[in-house]
Amino acid sequence: MKNLTPPIEWVENHIRIIDQTLLPAELKIVEIRTAAAAVDAIDRLAIRGAPALGAFGALALVVGLDEQASSTFGAATRRLEELRTFIGDARPTAVNLRWAVDRVIDHAVSSTETLDDLRSALLAEALKVAEEDAAACEEIGRLGHELLRTAVTIGTHCNAGRLATAGNGTALAPMYAKAEAGEPLRVLASETRPLLQGARLTAWELDDAGIDVTVLPDAAMASTVLSGKVDAYIVGADRIAANGDTANKIGTVAHALAAREAGIPFYVAAPTSTIDAALPSGNYIEIEERDGSEVHEIQGKRVTPEGVAVANPAFDVTPQNLITAIITEVGVLRAPFQVSIADALLRAGASQ
Ligand code: MRU
Repeated sequence: MKNLTPPIEWVENHIRIIDQTLLPAELKIVEIRTAAAAVDAIDRLAIRGAPALGAFGALALVVGLDEQASSTFGAATRRLEELRTFIGDARPTAVNLRWAVDRVIDHAVSSTETLDDLRSALLAEALKVAEEDAAACEEIGRLGHELLRTAVTIGTHCNAGRLATAGNGTALAPMYAKAEAGEPLRVLASETRPLLQGARLTAWELDDAGIDVTVLPDAAMASTVLSGKVDAYIVGADRIAANGDTANKIGTVAHALAAREAGIPFYVAAPTSTIDAALPSGNYIEIEERDGSEVHEIQGKRVTPEGVAVANPAFDVTPQNLITAIITEVGVLRAPFQVSIADALLRAGASQ
């Protein structure tokens, strides 16, 4: 791998991230020293991808606590309650953000009694979220590699790789494992309009790792899959309901339908922290609606006529019946997902 810059780093009491809005043209590191800067980075997708949002949001709590310099334990816990909403609600669909923020605050507040201990516990738990995510990616990579051993041409959508996690990625982790094993591999990355996470980010990180990657317009994927040239699909997830319905980047459903029609497997790869067992089905998943300018404009240039309306849902929900299996760090889950997901969460809880 030529580029070893970690996408998220905790350095001397601040967070450093790659500004993903500028890739691949520029590899710029930005320093996050306030809660407002953290929320702005999340909002404009400088940092993105569900597990990365969890790891980043957790560290942003420490930055937000330090920024206010509370003088008592009570004032610090009140500040954390403000941050729970401010940071936890910065994006609504990726459940890892809300999950990590709640986990880190709840752990720190319930396990300490002094200001110093609170801050230490907050930081330690936030770093643990990132460490656990890296380990989950590793295991997802191993399990996904086993499933994809005979697949050579693999389709993916958006970016679910190193840039989107604290480790080697979810959907892209098996690609790294295949490449390391010296197996033949060609990745087809759909460009992922409107913000081009596939064309810009998946292409950048796979190319950087020396993996053969071809970018296709979103509209070209279905016919390519139906022509028999693709062996399997693997995508990430932003939120998985208790029945297996999976929210991921807008356009994912179209890929799942093409895979079903072509008779190839459609895998979802995600850590168990992406599962929201409180939601019985995908109908309950909140879909982020982003600013219309992302559709009106391409690289700052207006492409739609003035006065025309646009819609910009950032995610869609793939029904569970289109998913071959969900690859998690505690195992490969198959239908009936209601049962395999409940079982996986029990195992994940037991291993913590
Ligand atoms: O809007 P984004 O770029 O944050 O959307 C990201 C995705 O949809 C990813 O596929 C998902 O978060 C999984 S990342 C491992």
